[in-house]
Amino acid sequence: MNIIDGKAISAKAKEELRLEVAALSEKGVSVGLAVIIVGDDPASRVYVNNKKKACELLGIISEEYALPNDTTMEELLALIDELNNKKEINGILCQLPLPRHLDEKAVINAISPEKDVDAFHPVNVGKIMIGDFDFLPCTPAGVMRLIDETGVEVEGKNCVVIGRSNIVGKPMSMLLLHRNATVTICHSKTRNLAEITSKADILVAAVGRANFVTPDMVKEGAVVIDVGINRLESGKLCGDVDFENVKEKCSHITPVPGGAGPMTIAMLMANTVTAAKRQNNLL
Ligand code: GUN
Repeated sequence: MNIIDGKAISAKAKEELRLEVAALSEKGVSVGLAVIIVGDDPASRVYVNNKKKACELLGIISEEYALPNDTTMEELLALIDELNNKKEINGILCQLPLPRHLDEKAVINAISPEKDVDAFHPVNVGKIMIGDFDFLPCTPAGVMRLIDETGVEVEGKNCVVIGRSNIVGKPMSMLLLHRNATVTICHSKTRNLAEITSKADILVAAVGRANFVTPDMVKEGAVVIDVGINRLESGKLCGDVDFENVKEKCSHITPVPGGAGPMTIAMLMANTVTAAKRQNNLL
């Protein structure tokens, strides 16, 4: 059994990007990311801080817009409009979830598709569906990188994704399909879940429930990727996979933390660099 070191793989990806940002800077091209956070959700604050830290490490200019909980739609849309038109900003990310009174869909739609480094805008989602994309969805792209690092071929394999969210499950399934896997998407209404997942050569768990995937659900020798980040009552972070028991059964497995999480940020940085190149006619 091999533990996939997401931290190390992310560090390698970020180092490549750091060199690319430096080369762009030599040509007089800067790279800038705007991060919007509304309210005081503690998990969102941690994610935003990590994104800012990654920008600093890579030489990407980051601008944080921390707005109060009672921000109105008008105020938020005005900020997005300003950033859409701001030359020094190549990528715009609005951290989700937003406070309940704000319309997430309208916010995603307002971000210019050229600056939508999350790839959440319907134009970018559509491009992913067709297989002709500018921006890769960050978490699924990070997972693909982790799978590739195992050396396990994706083509023709049975891949099962548990979870059908717009952020992870759906785009994850598309990326696997583009790589010629046979893909099954499971969700809360799926019957005989264990029967389906135990046929997976590659199993991706994006459920949001601690220790949901147990050894009886996993095929001997499978690659298991855990996208979950769940906080236990003790404060400890844990994934969707019962790591200690499942690890004995699979060929490769990601830990939580230190698996898929760090990769998501590296892919966000990659999208920001792509955005800057496109906006400067370098792609
Ligand atoms: N909230 C949880 N994951 C994400 C993400 O990838 N992007 C944004 N903007 N918000 C999130």
